[in-house]
Amino acid sequence: MRVFCVGEAISIPLLRGTARATTHHPLLRAVLHRIVKDEAAHGRFGWIFLDWAIDFLDSDARAHLAAIARDEMAKLLESWDQMKPQPAAADDVHALGWMESQAYVDLARLTLDTDVRQPLRASGFSV
Ligand SMILES: [Fe+2]
Repeated sequence: MRVFCVGEAISIPLLRGTARATTHHPLLRAVLHRIVKDEAAHGRFGWIFLDWAIDFLDSDARAHLAAIARDEMAKLLESWDQMKPQPAAADDVHALGWMESQAYVDLARLTLDTDVRQPLRASGFSV
């Protein structure tokens, strides 16, 4: 739950966002897109496993997993709250795939909701 349904699930859209932020360096863009492809399986694994396992989980197990998800989401939200806005990066840094801190946090929060919280709720987890 912690690693695959929360952490890996949000890493893919964030990596994709970083790849999109790469403004003009074709090699770096290709590397980032390759990483996104490689990571995609990690982002799906937790959900594939959960789909298979969910019928074997009793209410205590579901509550335990929901608590783990809530704990991990709270840690992420706290870490994003503590991120200090950084001054705008120089243009040449964007070529390296740099996302501005506010854009990163905005995407991370949106992704946590759409790619973690909503699917968990749809599966009956209280998060
Ligand atoms: Fe990964």
